Amino acid sequence: MDMNIRPRRLRGSEILRKMVRETRVDKSSLIYPIFVKEGTNIQEEIPTMPGQYRYSVDTLPKALEELLHAGVNKVMFFGIPDHKDEVGSQAYAQDGIVQRALQKAKAEFGNDMYLITDVCMCEYTSHGHCGVLCGQEVENDATLELLSKTALSHVQAGADMVAPSDMMDGRVLAIRTLLDEKGYKEIPIMSYAVKYASAFYGPFRDAAGSAPSFGDRKSYQMDFHNRREGIKEALLDVEEGADIIMVKPALSYLDMIREVKDTIDLPVAAYSVSGEYAMVKAGAKLGYIEEDRIICEMAASAYRAGTDIYLTYFAKEIARFIDEGRIG
Ligand code: PBG
Repeated sequence: MDMNIRPRRLRGSEILRKMVRETRVDKSSLIYPIFVKEGTNIQEEIPTMPGQYRYSVDTLPKALEELLHAGVNKVMFFGIPDHKDEVGSQAYAQDGIVQRALQKAKAEFGNDMYLITDVCMCEYTSHGHCGVLCGQEVENDATLELLSKTALSHVQAGADMVAPSDMMDGRVLAIRTLLDEKGYKEIPIMSYAVKYASAFYGPFRDAAGSAPSFGDRKSYQMDFHNRREGIKEALLDVEEGADIIMVKPALSYLDMIREVKDTIDLPVAAYSVSGEYAMVKAGAKLGYIEEDRIICEMAASAYRAGTDIYLTYFAKEIARFIDEGRIG
């Protein structure tokens, strides 16, 4: 018998291995989520997300500068208002926190930094739900008007793209219609289309103070047992005019990323959420896992599953790992 078996895989030099790699990770596809809050001179660390901060508008440019320096030129803004009320009025206020952050970022960086906003009510409502309430229930249709107003105010303040994350039915169409009417036909909508009711958002809700004061989000976010339902949501958002379809969270939903990729002819985005970040940080702090390698594997798995765009709190680290040739 010939014992000199030819290797099954191309596994010669690193140059060869990189040439035949099936998945590419590119800095241009990274989006960094960032929290902005009222006040001045603030850069406070988020306790459940070590290494992530809440910034006031005046300290924001420094953070964006660092990001640009690392080679990441896309951010997604989340606002933390001082004042919350029943209808989340600070979400669509002309001088709301996100609106002011957008103005500042545009003034300082022009088109060098691509600005995306999360469009939702939960950070702005006193009850912490993603829409206006009627009794104990979120009222879908009444919320659409507020979401559209919010999206429009973001675009008027300088947003390059809006990303509705509320999961109300019909919100993509409502936002698209209002933006078109006001002359913003070129502004894309990235829809959080396949968004599960998930415990992985826990640290985010600490960061933004947006946990619901009663009940949960299961009436409008998806049941994590369901796959077909996710595709149905995505297809409806395509019909309504979405330009990019997002799956969220990423790590436990890689099957959904692949399914959306195979079914829908639009760019796919995957959001590696706060709980994914927190688990890696906690595990690494305890010395149980190797942080850097885990970050690379998590990112590669999302791209391998089919994502075109990756939203991650590790954007800066991934950019560095790409530079160092550890992923890419
Ligand atoms: C707003 C929103 C949430 C996240 C993104 N947009 C919280 C939620 O739905 O409760 C979570 C992001 C993260 O966990 O990193 N609705």
